[in-house]
Amino acid sequence: MAQRQLAVITGASSGIGYELAELCAKDGFDLVIAADESEIEDAAHALEQHGTRVDWVECDLAMEEGVEELLEAIGRRPVDVLMANAGHGLGHAFLDQAFEDVLHVIDTNVTGTLFLIHRIGTRMRKRGSGRILITGSIAGFIPGAYQAVYNATKAFLDSFSFALRAELAESGVTVTCLMPGATETEFFERSDLLDTAVGQEKKDDPKDVAKAGFDALMRGDGDVVTGWQNKLQSAIASVTPAGLLARQYAKKAAPSSGEESAE
Ligand SMILES: NC(=O)c1ccc[n+]([C@@H]2O[C@H](COP(=O)([O-])OP(=O)(O)OC[C@H]3O[C@@H](n4cnc5c(N)ncnc54)[C@H](OP(=O)(O)O)[C@@H]3O)[C@@H](O)[C@H]2O)c1
Repeated sequence: MAQRQLAVITGASSGIGYELAELCAKDGFDLVIAADESEIEDAAHALEQHGTRVDWVECDLAMEEGVEELLEAIGRRPVDVLMANAGHGLGHAFLDQAFEDVLHVIDTNVTGTLFLIHRIGTRMRKRGSGRILITGSIAGFIPGAYQAVYNATKAFLDSFSFALRAELAESGVTVTCLMPGATETEFFERSDLLDTAVGQEKKDDPKDVAKAGFDALMRGDGDVVTGWQNKLQSAIASVTPAGLLARQYAKKAAPSSGEESAE
């Protein structure tokens, strides 16, 4: 009997990651999903309703041990799809943030993500097949005053994704960067950004964002910016001076009470 294909999705307990996992489940993949809190178990039971095998891991992917736990749950099974999606933001001015919180953003979004991709990507390259989706962001095009570290991590991922794709061009492994704009998930509450213009504006539906990412991954595209407004915003960002972008972003991400915006 042919082995079912396996998809590994990080940050699958809610938001874009959950929707990505559901699309994989509906497409007949077995799943290994991971997140940091116990809600990942509820997500696993919901995804099992699609008749697929779902293994779940509750682990902090900012930590090397957390990534190792996920790798242990995957075991020797070949990974057909890796969706490196787990990530979180951090609102407020950089100098007002606790440095351990700053490090957790970098360790989750960059270090843990790259460690996982390094380990699974090596196996995919050896096998000569695999698909990797990295959740970057259009935030990577914009210096994010009052989200400075987060936006910088997404700039890192956006850039890294294209570079890795080029390195793997002849290998049978594709790399796709999903670049959403503001999306209606738990992201803004978790990042303490509800008290900001960007926290309160109308946002994209995570189902639409995930579908665009899933389709781009399956086509083997290099990237997808979801929605025409985000496409326009990223095109404008590419020709706008960085200092101006940062000042404009400050108006969107500065807390409406307490802290001064950088205008
Ligand atoms: N929402 C947006 O506007 C937006 C826009 C562009 C890009 N993105 C990116 O999209 C991705 C998904 O975010 P979302 O919007 O869907 O937000 P979300 O609903 O908060 O989901 C984030 C997921 O990542 C997991 N996660 C965060 N830190 C983790 C850690 N250290 N270890 C393990 N799991 C961790 C969360 O699990 P726990 O709750 O268990 O920690 C959750 O499952 C992120 O990379 C985010 O940067 C979001």
